Amino acid sequence: MTLDAEAFIRARTRLAPVPLVPEISLLGAQALEPLWKELEALSGDPDCPPPFWAFPWAGGVGLARFVLDHPEHVRGKRVLDFASGSGLVGIAAALAGAKQVAACDIDPLAQAAGQLNAEANGVSVTVVGAVDFKRVPKGVDVILAGDVCYDHLMAHRSLAWLRLCAAAGVMVLLGDPARAYAPQDGVELLANVTVPTVLEIEDREEREVSIWHFVASI
Ligand SMILES: C[S@@+](CC[C@H](N)C(=O)[O-])C[C@H]1O[C@@H](n2cnc3c(N)ncnc32)[C@H](O)[C@@H]1O
Repeated sequence: MTLDAEAFIRARTRLAPVPLVPEISLLGAQALEPLWKELEALSGDPDCPPPFWAFPWAGGVGLARFVLDHPEHVRGKRVLDFASGSGLVGIAAALAGAKQVAACDIDPLAQAAGQLNAEANGVSVTVVGAVDFKRVPKGVDVILAGDVCYDHLMAHRSLAWLRLCAAAGVMVLLGDPARAYAPQDGVELLANVTVPTVLEIEDREEREVSIWHFVASI
């Protein structure tokens, strides 16, 4: 699929404050299905992933709120927003005083959206592609992961890597709205955040998001 990602995103979204996180505005879509269908048609891939980047997901919203309310976790630190989607969590870290922020996502449209959203919020974020799940990234003090346990394979790989990073001394925080593959052990609860959601992407109008800290010794 060859397309001008920036023009594609701008034409299908509008900038609006994030419910519960009004300090941050994101380029968001109104409806998931038509955009997803358009991407399927453009890519010719019936298994094309959803346009995650066009919505703030509950886990990311809860984690962004937590980071803004508890800036001590990221202030002066080098932060990686893993599976960044719209880039919401990394933007929150930058606004909370992180020394440097990188955002990573395998979807090129998410990478473009992350860059556009960082610019729209006046913060500097370096957007990168996939991480190497076999290695602990260099130059990262804190990893923030919003809503990564929605799919079995994604959760399995991500959680193993996040544990590897925590064992190496990286602080790892996960925002998770009780998704099916959320971690059952090796984490401690820092907070719960009630997040308003839309029926377009969730089956209810609010979700309880847990902020999990990965325990280094497990
Ligand atoms: C449910 S969205 C969460 C986005 C954002 N963190 C939030 O909470 O709004 C999951 C994101 O994970 C990304 N993703 C999937 N597999 C990935 C991988 N191996 N490495 C990095 N990102 C990945 C998807 O492209 C998608 O943007």
